[in-house]
Amino acid sequence: MNRALRCYGLRATGAGRLEPTCYDQNVSKSTHDAHAVILAAGKGTRMKSARAKVLHPLLGVPLLDHVVRTVQSLGVEPITVVVGHQAEVVEAAFAGRGLGFVRQDPPLGTGHAVQAARERVAAHPERTLLVVNGDLPLLRAETLARLLEAHRSGGAAATLLSVVLDDPAEYGRVVREADGSVRAVVENKDASPEQKRIREINAGIYAFQPGRLLEALAQLRPQNAQGEYYLTDVIGLLRKAGQRVNVVTAADSQEALGVNSHSELAAAARILRQRRCQALMASGVGIEDPETTFVGAEVEVEADAVLRAFTVLEGRTKVAAGAVVGPFVRIVDSSVGPGAQILDHCLLRACVVEEGASVGPFAHIRPESRIGAKAKVGNFVELKKTHLGDGSKAPHLSYIGDATVGPGVNIGAGTITCNYDGTHKHPTRIEAGAFVGSDTTLIAPITIGEGAYIAAGSAITEDVPPGALALGRARQVNKAGWAEARRAKAGKGKPGEGR
Ligand code: UD1
Ligand code: MG
Repeated sequence: MNRALRCYGLRATGAGRLEPTCYDQNVSKSTHDAHAVILAAGKGTRMKSARAKVLHPLLGVPLLDHVVRTVQSLGVEPITVVVGHQAEVVEAAFAGRGLGFVRQDPPLGTGHAVQAARERVAAHPERTLLVVNGDLPLLRAETLARLLEAHRSGGAAATLLSVVLDDPAEYGRVVREADGSVRAVVENKDASPEQKRIREINAGIYAFQPGRLLEALAQLRPQNAQGEYYLTDVIGLLRKAGQRVNVVTAADSQEALGVNSHSELAAAARILRQRRCQALMASGVGIEDPETTFVGAEVEVEADAVLRAFTVLEGRTKVAAGAVVGPFVRIVDSSVGPGAQILDHCLLRACVVEEGASVGPFAHIRPESRIGAKAKVGNFVELKKTHLGDGSKAPHLSYIGDATVGPGVNIGAGTITCNYDGTHKHPTRIEAGAFVGSDTTLIAPITIGEGAYIAAGSAITEDVPPGALALGRARQVNKAGWAEARRAKAGKGKPGEGR
């Protein structure tokens, strides 16, 4: 079968990147010929948060971002976002994304929000207008494409998306006539007990003929339980005016999950995570336990990488083929090279781990660090703004900050770069092949020359020339017979004989 729809839900690229571009390849941009308004002005009262609802993070990007990506993936343009609550912050978060913004101040309901975008709606009278609530992160591009196609072929004034739920909860109900045609959408708070039993709900996604929509919007009145201008009242108004309204029912009711509370945000996150892991596994990534693996929307994972249980990958992290990450690892905005391994309980932020390197267990790699090819950072080691050269090792209990470490260097257990004098940070330079003995403090600024040795337990305050041995500790003194004399003086016997 020559199916037009190539993929559904999240599509993994070669690098396993999230691509919600699951559009119908044969339904071209011109076939959709739609422009869009996304509603994002609401306060999100039920989140009980100072942050605008649409900015709450979901898989590492704002809630609204999921809707924007899905609409953009269909080539629908222009896209106008209606903003109101924290308008500046929302606009700033989406600057440079090719979106237009319209302010709705104050937000008086979803119908009022579309009214605020009236001029944008009227600007394209011949084209379909897609209106999407900004709080629907699980909506798939394929479903939007179906809605647009049904609207185009059905010739209705409006086509809305519905789903059937076991528990219709707070959603608006799709009320139908005896012949099955739509009569109206009734909000839960305004519904009669009989209407509340309707399980078909309005998903908050609509295709409109702009002219018909504008006529109906002008008639909206806030005469309802919430005192708001409901976009959903447009449906009943169009029907009363003798217009046709069609409904497309989505098969996957999850797509209509509107995020109105933290609980719904968490439910959406869980589903998106599952979809993300499924897409990655389909592209060849090994995921030991998808239930406990978190891969952000902008993360890339190549085929044949393995993510072990409780791995969290965030931001613009990349994991290359053959790398093994976890268990219990969090990586943010970092790159893990081919065949590298990040062992149990590590935190990596804004750093680069090159091919074949090994990190952890229990390592903290802070921003601007680079761990060279086949280098090793072991347990209880912290790196900050440090470049560890190829094949170098810091296997145990060290803090290396503001340091440039050449290749083939061995850093003994307990080595500390004293990079901060209380006011300024100072650099440490350790050149190729140097050997730093255990429990050394390197008091920066300082340079350890190529191939130099530092004796264990040293406090190094002066540069060490290449090839030299530096001893920076008090000379040991052994006093023969001292212990025996002390015991005798105290009237005690041999060691171990009482106190
Ligand atoms: C809305 C629908 C309901 C549907 C549900 C699906 C209305 C009246 N009700 O209810 O039928 O079942 O979505 O999830 O439309 N917004 C604005 N300006 C406003 C108010 C809201 O831009 O003045 C935005 C919000 O930011 C949000 C979207 O519109 O992104 C939906 O608003 P919300 O308050 O979540 O509507 P629901 O009560 O979920
Ligand atoms: Mg909602």
